[in-house]
Amino acid sequence: MTEQHHRIALIPGDGIGAEVVPAARRVLDAVSERHGIGLTYTELDWSCERYLNEGAMMPDDGLERLGEHDAILLGAVGYPGVPDHVSLWGLLIPIRRHFRQYVNLRPIRVFEGVPSPLRDAAPGEVDFVIVRENVEGEYSQIGGRLHQGFPEEIAVQEAVFTRAGVTRILDYAFGLAARRGGYLTSATKSNGIVHTMPFWDELVAERAAVHPGVSWDQEHIDALAAKFVLQPARFDVVVGSNLFGDILSDLAAAVAGSIGIAPSANLNPERDFPSMFEPVHGSAPDIAGRGVANPLGTIWSAALMLDHLGHARAAADITDAITAVLAKSTVRTPDLGGSATTDEFTAALVETL
Ligand code: NAI
Ligand code: MG
Repeated sequence: MTEQHHRIALIPGDGIGAEVVPAARRVLDAVSERHGIGLTYTELDWSCERYLNEGAMMPDDGLERLGEHDAILLGAVGYPGVPDHVSLWGLLIPIRRHFRQYVNLRPIRVFEGVPSPLRDAAPGEVDFVIVRENVEGEYSQIGGRLHQGFPEEIAVQEAVFTRAGVTRILDYAFGLAARRGGYLTSATKSNGIVHTMPFWDELVAERAAVHPGVSWDQEHIDALAAKFVLQPARFDVVVGSNLFGDILSDLAAAVAGSIGIAPSANLNPERDFPSMFEPVHGSAPDIAGRGVANPLGTIWSAALMLDHLGHARAAADITDAITAVLAKSTVRTPDLGGSATTDEFTAALVETL
């Protein structure tokens, strides 16, 4: 097998980020050796701690330095004492936008051995992916506030939907559905939001015509939220705008039973820039430093990274090992009802691999 080399930027970040990223690296080392994949790492200390010491989450040339890598694996950023908008807008959002990571991909699975809070969410049956638009839509900097403090004070926030931006996220989602179960659901609200959402719906119908192998439907976001709870097994690929995708993906992670397992990928599908892979959870200051964080969200994110880098078999080895260790072993971290440390859980996973 010819060895392929990839340069990976590691940003452990804050809190449990520094505990789960080394766990993911252990798993990556094991699987990459078996599959003849060469990974070299650049470890970066960009974090709230850096912000407190040096006044910025990352150095001035941070984006440039990241641009020299093939992918970014991030733990989590955020810590008490530093406002959350500083850590978000000082690191994560610049990375997502600068590198045109316009797809936010969030797989959801109910695993055997991880009870869902929903009575009817059977293991193995709930298995879908949320595709969230990641760079435009409702999260725009366009808008402002006038007459602050006066009775006539107003706040305006513009939602931005472009034909190019909506088309590319829909094409990604339809393409993913074609490779999975062939079924796409679009999140809309065209009854209440009368300009941007009918535009979204029109483009969904337009792109559906280009992907005839995929069956599709659309649901208003409120009804869709209810269906996530009532019939989570019916979904395959769910596509939504930035805000809708954000809310749905936390709901879906809760349906799956633990935020500690949920992974995400911020993808630049054209591969003009590095993509970024990170667990859905944050830095968990309440358990940080105790070595008991669940590493699976980061490990599954690392599997998404290998898949994106062209190593589908190696990625499947990791997700198979996650499935097996949850189903067949009682070793697990406290969030899943066990008493294992991050290291012990990671060791059990590497053993299964
Ligand atoms: P959080 O996800 O850090 O924690 C929520 C709860 O889930 C906590 O009780 C925590 O102990 C638990 N938890 C989370 N991940 C876990 C894991 N791997 N294993 C076991 N238990 C886990 O969310 P929270 O508390 O709202 O935010 C804490 C900080 O993280 C904030 O500063 C926030 O801004 C930041 N954050 C950063 C994100 C990122 O870097 N992408 C995403 C979400 C939050
Ligand atoms: Mg969110």
